[in-house]
Amino acid sequence: MMSSPAANITSVLKETRKFPPPGAFSAQAHVKSLAEYEKLWQKAHDDPEGFWALQAESLTWFSKWQKVLEWKEPFAKWFVGGKLNASFNCLDRHLVGPRKNKAALIWEGEPGDSRVLRYQDLHREVCKFANVLKGQGIKASDRVTIYMPMIPELAIAMLACARIGATHSIVFGGFSADAVADRNNDAKARLIITADGGWRRGKVVPLKNNVDGALEKSPTVEKCIVFNRCNQQVHMKQGRDMWWHELMMDASADCPAEPLDSEHPLYILYTSGSTGKPKGVLHTTAGYLLGTSYTHRLVFDLKEEDTYWCTADIGWVTGHSYIIYGPLANGATTLMYEGAPNHPREDRFWEIVEKYRVNTFYTAPTAIRAFHKWGDEWPKKHDLSSLRLLGTVGEPINPEAWMWYHEVIGGKRCPIVDTWWQTETGMIMITPLPGAIPTKPGSATRPLPGIEAEIVDKAGNPLAANQGGLLVIRRPWPAMLRTIYGDDERYRKEYWSHVPHAYFTADGARKDEDGYFWIMGRVDDVLNVAGHRLSTMEVESALVHHKRVAEAAVVGKPDEIKGEGISCFVTLKTGETPTEELKKELQAHVVKEIGALARPDEIRFTESLPKTRSGKIMRRLLRDIASGRQTTGDTTTLEDYSVLARLREEEE
Ligand code: WT7
Repeated sequence: MMSSPAANITSVLKETRKFPPPGAFSAQAHVKSLAEYEKLWQKAHDDPEGFWALQAESLTWFSKWQKVLEWKEPFAKWFVGGKLNASFNCLDRHLVGPRKNKAALIWEGEPGDSRVLRYQDLHREVCKFANVLKGQGIKASDRVTIYMPMIPELAIAMLACARIGATHSIVFGGFSADAVADRNNDAKARLIITADGGWRRGKVVPLKNNVDGALEKSPTVEKCIVFNRCNQQVHMKQGRDMWWHELMMDASADCPAEPLDSEHPLYILYTSGSTGKPKGVLHTTAGYLLGTSYTHRLVFDLKEEDTYWCTADIGWVTGHSYIIYGPLANGATTLMYEGAPNHPREDRFWEIVEKYRVNTFYTAPTAIRAFHKWGDEWPKKHDLSSLRLLGTVGEPINPEAWMWYHEVIGGKRCPIVDTWWQTETGMIMITPLPGAIPTKPGSATRPLPGIEAEIVDKAGNPLAANQGGLLVIRRPWPAMLRTIYGDDERYRKEYWSHVPHAYFTADGARKDEDGYFWIMGRVDDVLNVAGHRLSTMEVESALVHHKRVAEAAVVGKPDEIKGEGISCFVTLKTGETPTEELKKELQAHVVKEIGALARPDEIRFTESLPKTRSGKIMRRLLRDIASGRQTTGDTTTLEDYSVLARLREEEE
């Protein structure tokens, strides 16, 4: 269970560098100055419903809504009475003008194959596949599991579901058969869409085999559609399993988009809870589409001719919101890459940037630290001059990684948008607008117009500048989760009961004297050292600032005297050797950077850290190791199981 968080967290990160948006960038941006941002924010603050109603004109409606918001805390309904279709907004409406022959999706497969689908092509394929789903008896509100590699058919499957009103539940291709079965059962899915396999580091991930295992334990799933990606020998069960290409052969390309209610359930996305049971975060149609398209346009300062690349997997919310729904609703060109960043070599991403002349590049801090560790020679082999804007998401970015991203990838000319949000928020919430808000390395800066973010104590009282506390959102926003699928009570309890009348993010943060937010990580990860509540992320940031360190994870371990001691897991840059001297040097380094209260009690060198498949360090597992406990709880989100075993060996 999520422990009841204490408020006050001592913040020790000192970062004073500030980077104003380049003048030329501001001049062409959607929002051009700090003053303009502040005016917009104020306008939305004074009349939030009027503000969102105005934004909602950017969507295409079959019938207009009667009421902007119906709020019965904690349940929201946005654009009540309106009718629209997400797939229509992402496709059909772009076919009437010059976008019909514009690239909607540029796809690069790991083996080097490539496809481009124009808006017309994507529309045709989606219509055909929607008819395939109908042919299998799938109707509005049925749940469909999608367990696929990063190939265009994944996008086609999503949009086909949206077109007929089936609610999709995408399960990341790295999950096991059991995880697929759990999610099938929780959602009561009727059909699953998969592929024989997908490419990852030159090997085939056996997706269909996993599905076979999952379907032994998924009584609600009647049918399985299989796309042939890798020419694998797979078992096809008669009467249940069908080939995608065979079904598509006779499918009609005529499939009008179903007019759906604003609050029609668009998708469920499972995120790991603190208990074993995954939470099905439910997003609905109008508010989600509005939130993702609005933020995609403003935050990435979208231009008609942009080639935009978000490197996330569509199995995570980042891929849902910022590879598919936001960009396609905006008629943008979105790039999708199937494989690993280091296949066949460590410059694959930079090769792709150069090949397609990518303008906007959006990735995770964990990836940036890996690129930094691999060395500057890889990006330096390529022409990255097409890039004009960079983004990050998923965890706080340590200033060291930020500076490297800024200098080596962005050539010091590209603004960086550090975007704070969650699976539950559906859309970006706190971020610089790239032409308007000066950035400070490590800060997600300020809330978007329409978003009321605050730092409070447990009673909900706002804290003074630079005091660490709980990050909450005061008002409902269009793309917010509507509930946890099938569990309204858990939704209320986890998000709306910690702080009175506010959405509880479970993140600790502080707001500085300029109103900039500095996210300090999950409040569950806060250390309590001799009465000081310290953010693990800030100690990590200090460690990574040392020139020999590539990555660090910091956790507490029980300490009789101090309450908690500070235990650090450190990976070194390629070519560095772990020594006892270096341990002492790192301890002294943290004391110099932060102060004696943060002196690490122990430093352990390790080859790699246990991470979730979305790149988050699983500190819970490290806490178990640091305190010599058995690992308990859910480990199904762990990216590489062998890391745990290795960490335990390294301990000996
Ligand atoms: C948690 C949400 C949002 C899509 C990917 C992760 C952390 C996310 C930032 C950021 C600091 C961040 C927070 C948040 N987080 N972005 N820019 N700066 N922390 O989605 O798996 O739902 O995780 O990721 O702790 O609560 P998620």
